[in-house]
Amino acid sequence: MSFSAEWLALREPADHRSRNAKLAHAVTSYFEGWRPITVIDLGCGTGSNLRATAPLLGPEQFWTLVDYDAKLLAAARECLTAWAEGSAEKDGALVLFKGARRITVSFRQADLSVELDDVLAPGANLVTASALFDLVSADFLAKLIAGVSKRKSAFYTVLTYDGDQRWTPEHPADAAMLAAFHAHQARDKGFGASVGPSAPDLLSEGFAASGYTVTEGDSAWRLGPEDEALIDDLAAGFANAVAETGMVPAADLESWRAEARTGCIVGHADTFATPPVG
Ligand SMILES: C[S@@+](CC[C@H](N)C(=O)[O-])C[C@H]1O[C@@H](n2cnc3c(N)ncnc32)[C@H](O)[C@@H]1O
Repeated sequence: MSFSAEWLALREPADHRSRNAKLAHAVTSYFEGWRPITVIDLGCGTGSNLRATAPLLGPEQFWTLVDYDAKLLAAARECLTAWAEGSAEKDGALVLFKGARRITVSFRQADLSVELDDVLAPGANLVTASALFDLVSADFLAKLIAGVSKRKSAFYTVLTYDGDQRWTPEHPADAAMLAAFHAHQARDKGFGASVGPSAPDLLSEGFAASGYTVTEGDSAWRLGPEDEALIDDLAAGFANAVAETGMVPAADLESWRAEARTGCIVGHADTFATPPVG
């Protein structure tokens, strides 16, 4: 499944403002005084997660950004260089200077569906991801949790879709459209049948069963008239996914598409899990 840099740029402001502030504070408190800190970002896209998470962490950070899409990795290098106040190349890595922080970034092209163990192998203080885990299978989540726990890394993920979706204005076909969308979500997105909106619960339960302390917080998108471009794109993508299922009569689908939308709530959860002490 591929994602365009344009779509990721369109959603980034909503993603950043929707992150759960309490969990963000918990991440900062947990890593207070850690220097340096190593981080692996899974499914990094253009680096949005780094741009939002690096400010929570200490002055010296080493990130590995992982994605299977070479174009997005190239865009990440560009976007991060533009975001930083200064940058340099060192031994193939990109060194960013942002405020008082020095952030060394390595880029790795890897397919997580087959290379997860290898990606996690070097170990990291923090394994993180943004907007990824509704795409993966239950088996992948089990492997991820085992791999992270084995290395006693902390785990922080944001903006995992949780199944809530409400459009303004309402439409009589909303419920049927959402059911069809969820059926589409359960399809294979490259990892086997996807967990879709079960991802937040599976992550929390899995890490808790591994002895981790888990905190979860709401990070729903609450989109209004100022998010018109994002709402339009979201509605079109939603309707296209529904159309592929054939579960909603064409007339209802066309009537739903014809309605102009001024708002949307999309439920997400953030999850922070810390390893047992000792
Ligand atoms: C919804 S996007 C999120 C991107 C970024 N984390 C963000 O928040 O903007 C999902 C990302 O996961 C990547 N991805 C999907 N399947 C993958 C796989 N099997 N291996 C590596 N990356 C994958 C996509 O290329 C995309 O960049």
